[in-house]
Amino acid sequence: MVVKKICGIGAGYVGGPTCSVIALKCPDIQVTVVDVNHEKIAQWNSEKLPIYEPGLDEVVEKCRGRNLFFSTDMRLAIQEADLIFISVNTPTKTFGNGQGRAADLKYVENTARIIAEVATEDKIVVEKSTVPVRAAESILHILRANHKPGVSFQILSNPEFLAEGTAIENLVNPDRVLIGGHDSPEGRAAIEQLAQVYEHWISREKIFTTNTWSSELSKLAANAFLAQRISSINSLSAVCEVTGADVSEVASAIGLDSRIGSKFLQASVGFGGSCFQKDLLNLVYICECLNLPQVAAYWQQVIDMNEYQKSRFSTKVIVSLFNTVTDKHIAILGFAFKKNTGDTRDSPAIYVAKSLLDEGAVLHIYDPKVQEALIMDNLMACSDSHVKNRIHVYQDAYSAVENTHALVLCTEWDEFIELDYEKIYSQMTKPAYIFDGRKILDHTRLQNIGFIVQTIGKRLNRIPVSRTWGSSTQL
Ligand code: UDX
Ligand code: UDX
Ligand code: ADP
Repeated sequence: MVVKKICGIGAGYVGGPTCSVIALKCPDIQVTVVDVNHEKIAQWNSEKLPIYEPGLDEVVEKCRGRNLFFSTDMRLAIQEADLIFISVNTPTKTFGNGQGRAADLKYVENTARIIAEVATEDKIVVEKSTVPVRAAESILHILRANHKPGVSFQILSNPEFLAEGTAIENLVNPDRVLIGGHDSPEGRAAIEQLAQVYEHWISREKIFTTNTWSSELSKLAANAFLAQRISSINSLSAVCEVTGADVSEVASAIGLDSRIGSKFLQASVGFGGSCFQKDLLNLVYICECLNLPQVAAYWQQVIDMNEYQKSRFSTKVIVSLFNTVTDKHIAILGFAFKKNTGDTRDSPAIYVAKSLLDEGAVLHIYDPKVQEALIMDNLMACSDSHVKNRIHVYQDAYSAVENTHALVLCTEWDEFIELDYEKIYSQMTKPAYIFDGRKILDHTRLQNIGFIVQTIGKRLNRIPVSRTWGSSTQL
């Protein structure tokens, strides 16, 4: 059988762009993306898409109404499809067994039940959401226990490796496509059918097939490895700040070793995003359940180091501002978890902003792509209502920095590099501080203008090593 109709369940950061690019590259396949959220589907059908992703508007514009459809009629789309992608969210569980660590599979389970109820013909069901190892087995169990007579299902694991901000580029030209399936004639046939979809634009050598469990674990492992590199370089950034080494130089020097490689060695205020922390927690939980406490402790340390990095940065801001930020006005530039996205999930900016609010600061926040309501939602969760009066959201960087004591850069947006810092200096209260949490600014130039500058992994304002060596508060 050749796949003619695809249904993508879940129109989020993964499902939306993935299905759009499949529609772009496979004009002979009809792709319908469905979601329980009516408002989101209405946005996908409008001029203003629900997510910001460079290049996405153009892809959707080209395909929507041709072979790409966004709908809330999940049952119809499932019934018609030969192949179904499950790309619903799998957040960390907030209660019960595995609370705060295990992935909550309730949305995946819901979709499996609907598929079983609706399907009247054979289907290939593909899990795209990041799921714990052996989740495919649970999906299969639900499908087989509820299916109609004569209907059979093949479950494949086909994790998505796109990164936000570069999703379209990653989908059009991926490093690899991973497909895991059951090692049986039917399983191999299903793998082949999905591989043929990708072969519309991706060469066969890049399509890597494994058993289902290897595929599921590879997704968790890839995110855990990437996060581990960031925590490793961030741990060294702390050493650099005390010793006078420069973490960028260290990263370049070690990155030249082809066994290490140069990517993902950018020290920062800490990693964020919907995947790294969630998948690490999930991996730790799985290891504990498998009675592998040493392995669990190893990966937990990657998360702990990230928390340490975020707290080190916030402390640096507070300590530098004479150990008190109460009633001081502080500009936060960037609220998204990285540039080129409006996504704030687990953004380090949230941590930094909350720490400063806890100390009584008044925040002036600006991000080019994050709406005011989302910023407020993030900061008001678990905060007293009076905190609201100390949060001001601005529509541009210059208005945000006016009359502030410090500028704290949390996201590496290109436009922050291009700002007129002479003008900014003249608008700020003196002494004027800049804390560059992304290492993107020209620090020497800023110091020449008159700013006191602090960054990650490099000591800019000289403190004799003997004074800081061994002390408990390292700036
Ligand atoms: C290492 C560094 O590679 C080298 O750059 C540095 O100058 C000195 O330390 P060496 O210890 O001689 O070199 O050998 P290496 O090839 O790095 O192997 C070290 C150990 O790691 C060996 O026991 C090797 O078997 C093991 N190893 C290596 C693995 O278990 N898995 C691997 O994938 C690679
Ligand atoms: C990640 C994986 O890269 C992707 O393959 C997977 O499918 C989903 O999770 P994403 O979270 O969208 O993608 O973005 P990524 O570019 O990986 O950045 C994650 C976080 O790490 C960001 O906060 C980013 O700023 C930070 N980061 C990244 C660093 O601090 N230093 C680096 O060198 C790289
Ligand atoms: P991700 O980053 O993994 O794509 P998102 O939260 O952006 O996560 O997207 C997941 C989408 O899945 C959301 O739009 C949510 O409404 C949708 N969703 C969750 N459960 C279901 C379901 N049972 N049926 C259809 N859509 C669902």
